[in-house]
Amino acid sequence: MSPQRVLTGITTSGTPHLGNYAGAIRPAIAASLRDGVESFYFLADYHALVKVQDPARVQRSTLEIAAAWLACGLDPERVWFYRQSDIPEIPELTWLLTCVAGKGMLNRAHAYKAAVDRNLAENEDPDSGITAGLFMYPVLMAADILMFRAHQVPVGRDQVQHIEMARDFGARFNHFYGEHFVLPEAAVDESVATLPGLDGRKMSKSYDNTIPLFAPLADLRKAILAIKTDSRAPGEAKAAEGSALFQLYQAFATPAETAAMRRAFADGVAWGDAKQALFECVKREVEPMREKYQALIAKPIEIEATLREGAAKARKIATPFMAELRGAVGLRALHAERAREPSAGAKAALPVFKQYREADGKFYFKLLDADGKLLLQSRGFASPRGAGQRIAALKAGDSLGEAGDLVDGIEFARVEAAIRALRQADEAKS
Ligand code: TRP
Repeated sequence: MSPQRVLTGITTSGTPHLGNYAGAIRPAIAASLRDGVESFYFLADYHALVKVQDPARVQRSTLEIAAAWLACGLDPERVWFYRQSDIPEIPELTWLLTCVAGKGMLNRAHAYKAAVDRNLAENEDPDSGITAGLFMYPVLMAADILMFRAHQVPVGRDQVQHIEMARDFGARFNHFYGEHFVLPEAAVDESVATLPGLDGRKMSKSYDNTIPLFAPLADLRKAILAIKTDSRAPGEAKAAEGSALFQLYQAFATPAETAAMRRAFADGVAWGDAKQALFECVKREVEPMREKYQALIAKPIEIEATLREGAAKARKIATPFMAELRGAVGLRALHAERAREPSAGAKAALPVFKQYREADGKFYFKLLDADGKLLLQSRGFASPRGAGQRIAALKAGDSLGEAGDLVDGIEFARVEAAIRALRQADEAKS
């Protein structure tokens, strides 16, 4: 089996905090050690520019985040670890994708829509203060993902829509220019901790409630003492559920320690003692990495070299792929032979739904790809209308696998891409 590619980006707009560590760095490094996966982790510094106009901060954040990942055990020999802006093919691909991306789809992106809604609420012009960078953010992100033909993209819930957009742009491109892109899936791991911050809301730099990962110990203790709790006195029973302090503890303690802490809450542990226990747990996990972090931060030139090597390794994939894509869209030498263009012979290249009747008297359909390969085989319907309606529902975007579509051994992504191609061909006709 060919390896699964896992790819994710980290926006370089802040200082790594405990939430980044438990929610992204720790699980990503663990995943990178599994067999049969190729991991791509990169510093999304072009994305940072959408939010941060402070050059020193972009630079500092890039250094700190790179150092954090390396100090936490990421092995750059084993994975692809690079800085987005070292890969000129990424903005190049962004433009090709921009030219197939639906503007209407970008209008519906959550981050852009939220910014518009804020303006409307304040009786401002809808696009007041909104840059085209914020608007185009999902296209740049699609380029990051599609460039490396990633299968899985581990992200938080808030990013799932972006992965769906990447699928859409990739599928449109494939429809026009042939099967160049793998259509990625979002991987939202529910078991991975989303840590609460000091105020109980999700730990996030935008809420200013973070606990820095590599703060000096005295600062770490101070931050932990500042975690919001209620006013229950020592001896009064406390609820573990819903307690930010307890959730943080759980992310750094062993299961046995967590069970003991749950009992201590019920028995009325003093908040100060619980905080001290959390401090000890975090310290135990972070201390051994801190020294490495400090050493790395002190030698930016070494991290710079690591990132440049990472970029060279990533460009071994990106450069030839980009050349292929340029050729595919027609940006090629004038004497170059014209490739077989799917869009030129669009009719021949489209998948088809075929309806037929079997000896059992029932009505069936199947979906064949452009080369006649079977992609989908339906169950039997009592009437041709029933089969026809199911085809229409699939084309309208109904999810696969329901209503008894048989898809054994078939790649969902390919079936979806074929159906999407048909839908788009229909749309182009009308
Ligand atoms: N937008 C992502 C975030 O804010 C970061 C990111 C940029 C990313 N490019 C990506 C994540 C590609 C996954 C894949 O979290």
